[in-house]
Amino acid sequence: MIDFRSDTVTKPSPAMRQAMAEAEVGDDVYGEDPTVNALEAKTAALLGKASGLFVSSGTQSNLLAILAHCQRGDEYIVGHQAHAYRDEGGGAAVLGSVQPQPLMLDDRGMFDLEVLDSTVKHQPSMYHFAHSKLLCLENTFDGKVLPPAYVAEAQSLGRAHDLRLHLDGARLWNAALSEGQTPAEVADGFDTVSVCLSKGLGAPVGSVLVGGADLIEEARRWRKMVGGGMRQAGILAAAGNYALDHNLDRMATDHANTARLAEGLAAIPGVTIDGPHTNMLFVSFEGVDPTQLGEQLAKQDVLIFPGATIRLVCHINISTEDIDRALAVFGGAVQELARP
Ligand SMILES: Cc1ncc(COP(=O)(O)O)c(C=O)c1O
Repeated sequence: MIDFRSDTVTKPSPAMRQAMAEAEVGDDVYGEDPTVNALEAKTAALLGKASGLFVSSGTQSNLLAILAHCQRGDEYIVGHQAHAYRDEGGGAAVLGSVQPQPLMLDDRGMFDLEVLDSTVKHQPSMYHFAHSKLLCLENTFDGKVLPPAYVAEAQSLGRAHDLRLHLDGARLWNAALSEGQTPAEVADGFDTVSVCLSKGLGAPVGSVLVGGADLIEEARRWRKMVGGGMRQAGILAAAGNYALDHNLDRMATDHANTARLAEGLAAIPGVTIDGPHTNMLFVSFEGVDPTQLGEQLAKQDVLIFPGATIRLVCHINISTEDIDRALAVFGGAVQELARP
């Protein structure tokens, strides 16, 4: 199966499973799991922060960050299409009484900084307002890397307004590779950063929230409260350690495969392509019903999520040979389905 739906569909390799099976474990709620502790320290060091917290998912990581930064009645400012606003069940509002203040993102994942400037509630003493407390950015956004100069400007504007800064870096690794930066450089200037192990890195479970020691201690308390304190979690953390040691640099192959896919698809008549953007690319085919296309591809073991625009994601379980086979399958299916 060549599964382009997401980089969350990856399966752990035999070597990763071996590392999980052999992991040394202890009770992580007591802080006694050596494998979890090693993962937290390793991730924090990679991202240039003091402390790390192993959590079950990117959603939990973003939630804990917001809860650690904000009190009831505060607000976090976030893109209207950002995962931490649109795709996390309203967790910060539901569980923390923290109001989201969404700002319109453009298709590169950026909001207008003048709009940010005028949106911050400047007078927290005004009892009409929630207190603007936190600014959240997402990098990469739909595979697109935020320009470092934009990030720096957003950060300094946020600081000027006394905002804390959180980065949803679920795919920060891809941004770093693409920009030729270190992960720490992409994470620089943020108070907290959430990174996922279960996407391009190929681990089955988990994210790590990193930041200053006090903030991470606060997040640890919230993690327990939302039921995220896991006991012999080293079995899961071992996959994360393995992924950081073995799968980080190889993500360049995913970017190269995405470029190869884009180049090959460009030869199909009627195609419109947005990308490649790191490990993602967005396509549509004129005169082809996306649902029929999805069915046709699935019959030949190529999986997509059908839609007006189809997102294709490359990852560790898609090889360069798979790309070439998928291109042949796409070409045949579009030719068969295209209305004259
Ligand atoms: C940008 C971004 N942030 C956070 C998440 C949440 O991660 P999880 O699925 O582990 O909760 C995702 C998931 O796809 C994501 O794409």
